[in-house]
Amino acid sequence: MDYGKYKLAYDAMHSEITQKPMSNSTQMKPTKYSNNGTLIVEGGRPISGRVAVRGAKNSVPKNMVAALLTSEKTTFHNVAAIRDVSVMTDLIEAIGGLVKRDIVSGSITVDPLNLSAMSRETAAHFSGISRIPILLCGPLLHRFGEAFIPNLGGCAIGERSIDFHLDALRRFGASLEEQPDGILLHCKNGLHGTKIRLDFPSVGATEQVILTAVLAKGETELANAAVEPEIMDLIAQLQKMGAQIMLDTDRVIRIVGVERLRGCVHYAMPDRLEVASWACAAAATNGKIFVAGARHSDLFAFLNAYVRAGGEFEVEETGIWFSRAHSGLKAVVVETGVHPGFMTDWQQPFATMLTQADGVSIIHETVYEGRFGYINALNTMGANITLRNDCLGSRCRFGRLNHAHSAIISGATQLVGAEIMVPDLRAGFSYVIASLIAQGMSRISNIGLIQRGYEFFTDKLSALEVNFELIGDDVK
Ligand code: EPZ
Repeated sequence: MDYGKYKLAYDAMHSEITQKPMSNSTQMKPTKYSNNGTLIVEGGRPISGRVAVRGAKNSVPKNMVAALLTSEKTTFHNVAAIRDVSVMTDLIEAIGGLVKRDIVSGSITVDPLNLSAMSRETAAHFSGISRIPILLCGPLLHRFGEAFIPNLGGCAIGERSIDFHLDALRRFGASLEEQPDGILLHCKNGLHGTKIRLDFPSVGATEQVILTAVLAKGETELANAAVEPEIMDLIAQLQKMGAQIMLDTDRVIRIVGVERLRGCVHYAMPDRLEVASWACAAAATNGKIFVAGARHSDLFAFLNAYVRAGGEFEVEETGIWFSRAHSGLKAVVVETGVHPGFMTDWQQPFATMLTQADGVSIIHETVYEGRFGYINALNTMGANITLRNDCLGSRCRFGRLNHAHSAIISGATQLVGAEIMVPDLRAGFSYVIASLIAQGMSRISNIGLIQRGYEFFTDKLSALEVNFELIGDDVK
């Protein structure tokens, strides 16, 4: 894959990163992932050039959890150097697994031969950092008959309940005890297949059921399942490992448990969320960006809305070009939804782009009740966005619950640089886009959060010849 000058810059900047030695230490490492770092950006001109996108933040950590369902090694390729992969790496090593990681080549080998159950001390180090630990329940229960899972972290974009997960685990035969510092799980007689219907096609709960059912005794039927590309990617990996997973029509997934699974080699799917973020940056600044690694088939709903809003794209063998059409950006109405709808994680960069569209746009967020927390910062920069509690679209779960889950965006407005703090991952990258649009200098703090899901994003800004200064300790 030829990234052009980006690839040279990329390799030059990261050639000093050597292969992570095979860790044989099982003692706990302090797990500190600071969100520090401040970006000072000079905006106001078109952003053009090439970037590369690798393994998806919302699939690779789950792929790594699936690798714990066997005692054999699994190797992943095309893995991005993002924090959520580092958290998962540290978690696997903390429970006795071995991980060999080469950040430049993007390969990771997970060796779960000497895995041990998660102790409370270990769990404490990972409390509140990520949502991924909840997906360890099935693999740890199958192997040890017990598991202790820490309290979860993740972006503050809504209540983010895990009731579907806990209900599913009970139906598989696990006993659960919710405690102040986490959840203690046991299953004396092993886990057995069951029938589950999700009230809402939850991605995490679907992954929970799949990761538990593949080794459970008997058959599992999951109705109203999520069918996002990341779920399909997890199923593809598990099928290579020997799992029996069938996809029925209308969101029904059937799984026949097997005795054991084997290791495999898996090529991580590209991050369709990062691809869309760069696409919005290109159209919002009237630039042109080539995203190497972008996969067209993951982006249908995004591209439909992008073109309606005045974006343009051109698919090539190794990636996709994104830019603004000569006719300019136009106001559109968008409603987020589960796959194959417009992804909720595309909403933030898309709304930022719509501040540059002529007319009144509407975004109705139906997946998370609190996903417009970033709007105030955009308005301080000169955007004209108002939030409403009612459903500006089809009636959704949040309609009568007083959640500000619809946004009215009046444009086009001239943005000016401001001082803003990143509240969560997707909002954070949207602030970077807003700072690229804005006239003058913006100061964006707390940018370590962005590194959770955007690989080497400041290097990519350099490759796009953005004028910026980075102040901070651990952001790359
Ligand atoms: C995954 O979160 C992603 N995170 C999210 O991306 C993404 O926005 C989301 O799926 C939807 O696609 C990862 O994969 C790490 P859900 P997840 O379970 O699994 C409710 C990003 O920025 N719900 O599909 O937690 C929940 O409250 C992140 O990359 C329950 O009520 O999402 C929400 O309203 C943000 N009970 C809705 O379902 C449950 O037990 C969707 O949540 C589980 C979920």
